[in-house]
Amino acid sequence: MSRLENSIEKNKKLIDGFISDYFNESGCYKKFRHNKFSLSDAMLYTALMPGKRIRPVMLMLAAESLGFRDSAKLVPFAASIELIHSYSLIHDDLPSMDNDSIRRGKPTNHIVFGEATAILAGDALLAEAFVMVSNKEYAGEFDSGKIVEVINELSRASGGGGLVEGQFHDVNSFGETLSIERIEYINEKKTASLLGAACAMGAILSGAGESAVADFRNFGKYIGLAFQSVDDVLGMVGSKEMLGKTAGIDAINNKPTVAGSIGLEKTAALIKEYNEKAMLHLNKTGAETGLFPELVAYLTDRIN
Ligand code: IPE
Ligand code: IPE
Ligand code: MG
Ligand code: MG
Repeated sequence: MSRLENSIEKNKKLIDGFISDYFNESGCYKKFRHNKFSLSDAMLYTALMPGKRIRPVMLMLAAESLGFRDSAKLVPFAASIELIHSYSLIHDDLPSMDNDSIRRGKPTNHIVFGEATAILAGDALLAEAFVMVSNKEYAGEFDSGKIVEVINELSRASGGGGLVEGQFHDVNSFGETLSIERIEYINEKKTASLLGAACAMGAILSGAGESAVADFRNFGKYIGLAFQSVDDVLGMVGSKEMLGKTAGIDAINNKPTVAGSIGLEKTAALIKEYNEKAMLHLNKTGAETGLFPELVAYLTDRIN
């Protein structure tokens, strides 16, 4: 296992362990069952499915690159991003959105629990992320001003100026031909904003100043733009087994994507450009690049 793989595995265990304990210990949503399951069963079904956990890992790596060594203190903040990501996946797969029946190799949330419960499980994950991130116990010695900054970062990336704005344009673009700039805008909002927030949150919690936080946010943004383009290429060329989701779903939905619009070769060049821009921002922060160059290669090599 490479150093990066080791770090990803270690962080994944921390995040999943934390989410699992959080729901068990707080007993939240567990009390009443309906149709043999509770709301938290539906929430955790997606949140704890095997996934890359790349967003929380990026928060942890950003902090590590700034010399923050007490990684256990960062776990609740990193986990809160994964809750938001999980909610976005549940909603993204709904019949009224991408209408997908497989996610992370398993039937999607609404297939298992029904559409109404899937919507509610997503809603609850989104709200719970903010309960988690604003919990005094997890704030510990972090300055309360920093916690407010973190909450602001996460909510801006998730809301109507970020992920939801991107999803709004995405689902309303089926069957349309969009310019590459417009597709980039959608990708920036729906995907890159949360990756940017993950890096910025790691930087804020490590005590970085405003300009370094902005560079970390931009670093994550460009990684996110590359990440979404890689995801779209994989959606075109990958199999159901490899993806753990329906192959060719964008073509089925007639959805404009970077790769569908400019072709695989130009997309590969664009991904390289995004990655270079990301590294320029990282270098500006003056932080150790640490495992990031390896991470960039790991995320991009999925298409090679
Ligand atoms: C899928 O995200 C949705 C996109 C933004 C492309 P991931 O590729 O991070 O999904 P998991 O978490 O590994 O399942
Ligand atoms: C993912 O978009 C963005 C969010 C879930 C916010 P996609 O629809 O392209 O991702 P996949 O391919 O379903 O994972
Ligand atoms: Mg989608
Ligand atoms: Mg989708």
